[in-house]
Amino acid sequence: MGTKIIGTKIIGLNETESTNAYARNIETNKLENGTIIISQFQTSGRGYNKNSWESEAGKNITCSIILLPEKIKAEDQYVISKFVSLAITDYLSIKGIVAKIKWPNDIYIGDKKIAGILIENSVKGEYIDKTIIGIGININQESFKSDAPNPISLKNITKSEYSISHELEELIRFLNHWYNQVVEDKNGMIDKDYKQKMYRIDELSVFSDNTKKFEGYIKGVNKFGQLMIETTEKEKLLFNFKEVAFLI
Ligand code: BTN
Repeated sequence: MGTKIIGTKIIGLNETESTNAYARNIETNKLENGTIIISQFQTSGRGYNKNSWESEAGKNITCSIILLPEKIKAEDQYVISKFVSLAITDYLSIKGIVAKIKWPNDIYIGDKKIAGILIENSVKGEYIDKTIIGIGININQESFKSDAPNPISLKNITKSEYSISHELEELIRFLNHWYNQVVEDKNGMIDKDYKQKMYRIDELSVFSDNTKKFEGYIKGVNKFGQLMIETTEKEKLLFNFKEVAFLI
């Protein structure tokens, strides 16, 4: 699986506001590449769009990875979301589960969300100098109270109970595997796998772009992470995050 960078240091907490916030607050000179912060409970776990992230104490994986990449250009930053998404879908596949990547940062089983990724990048010049990758994966939680759309957990699907520390170790293996692909610049491999695992790829779907409804097919993402859709009228469209939503 290549060099282990992610998870060489693990900071385990009982409770914190948010593991992303904890990582963000570590002083620059104390940062160690590959550190993972995992907390049993987050008092203010965050999703993207300033949403909250619901996770019962001790039941799920809620962690953040600090990476100090050496050569990811700012314009290529979407590769971070790609490699993490692939690690999570591979991790779920060893549980016998077919998971899909719902652009830009969600992992779905069927039409239900099992995991979310929250990435915070700092850029220095042309390059990403630090990235904090927050990962929430629903593992043992059986019911969800918030109005999050369609949550599901591993236990909901398999009816088994999991050891969170063991599951984290398994996830770390795949994170290192896919991060090594990034470091070794095997982007072709990442792009191919990512496209294959995209939710509703090449399936007729109905979208809304805030002004109108239209029908089309997801064709992949470009190098900037924009979603590529070809409409039924053969028009090729590109969307940034929040510019398009699935209706069906
Ligand atoms: C989303 O789908 O909206 C992203 C969810 C990300 C949740 C994780 S849990 C660990 C880390 N700390 C946070 O506060 N958020 C991320």
